[in-house]
Amino acid sequence: MPDDTAARNPSEWRLPSGFRDPAESPVFADVLENVGATPLVRVNRLAPGAPGEIWVKLDQFNVGGSSKDRIGLNIIRSAIAAGELRPGQRIVDFGAGNTAIGYALAGLATGHPVTIVHNPELSPEKASLLRLLGADLVPGRHDVPPDDPRNWAAIAERYEREDPSNWWARQVSTPANPDAHVDSTGPEVWHQTGGRVTHWIAAVATGGTVSGTGRYLKSRKPEVSVIATDFTEKVEVTNLLPILDRAEGWEELERDFPENLQLDVLDRFESRRKAEVIDYGWHVARTEGLVLGPSSVLSLRIAVDLAHRVPPGSVIVSFSADSGRDYTSREYNADWLRANGYGEIADKYEPRH
Ligand SMILES: Cc1ncc(COP(=O)(O)O)c(C=O)c1O
Repeated sequence: MPDDTAARNPSEWRLPSGFRDPAESPVFADVLENVGATPLVRVNRLAPGAPGEIWVKLDQFNVGGSSKDRIGLNIIRSAIAAGELRPGQRIVDFGAGNTAIGYALAGLATGHPVTIVHNPELSPEKASLLRLLGADLVPGRHDVPPDDPRNWAAIAERYEREDPSNWWARQVSTPANPDAHVDSTGPEVWHQTGGRVTHWIAAVATGGTVSGTGRYLKSRKPEVSVIATDFTEKVEVTNLLPILDRAEGWEELERDFPENLQLDVLDRFESRRKAEVIDYGWHVARTEGLVLGPSSVLSLRIAVDLAHRVPPGSVIVSFSADSGRDYTSREYNADWLRANGYGEIADKYEPRH
């Protein structure tokens, strides 16, 4: 966190006077070395006058375009080292696309073919990219019960059970997922803020990012506040909140959220509705020049609200898992918005003439 950046008037937005020092350009022996060490960028215009500083950790700068490169690599590396993934076996898992890209890259490097079970919402950009990287795509559903044969986890489980040449990577439960963030994202945020970080905010898919990074940051500074975020529509269909709030009868509730969401690390859970987040994503792009995927906007929305409530000196780090570029045919496309019940957002930012 260079002093001149921290001291600059946050409302002033100017072009840098030149390019960065060429001597700082990284050199890599191989493409997968370009995973981790992603930039931390100050958010200057979204919360004018707020006492808290806001920073975004831009994990779209990983070579495969998302934070999931970190876990794709770490899961495959750990499984090979433990002898669980044997030569020639096929890597199988289910997910929304980003981990799949990490697996596809790790699979190419280690000679393992990759099959991904995806949900119907996989963006066309990510589907094409996965095919480009040689992965097989199998359609599944995330919105049907686990015992339904169309359920994406059930399909991955079946692949492994019925054919021993398949190996199910289990990003939802393997410790290699949060460990990747204990080993990389956490130390990076600590280093980049010079230990000043006071709040860590990240959206939950498997829970690995918020838990692993949060665990590392708390090991350095126990008072760091760890805030997990998700879309209200998704939280409403899980039992996460009663369990987290220790509401009456919570001991009897079975967990129906991912194992890698480690409740002992979380201080709080916050959610926002999808429509509010999509709207804010357009605003963030036009105000700050930051083009972020929806889950990244969700965390930033919560960071901005928080920045007004915290004491001066607070340093809020909000996580960006992927780029808005991956959603230009969906949430950042006026036609898609109009066809999917978000016409008001389209009319606000892309009015019809
Ligand atoms: C779009 C998106 N949102 C959120 C996350 C956070 O994921 P997790 O909770 O699985 O670590 C990820 C992971 O990179 C992601 O791809």
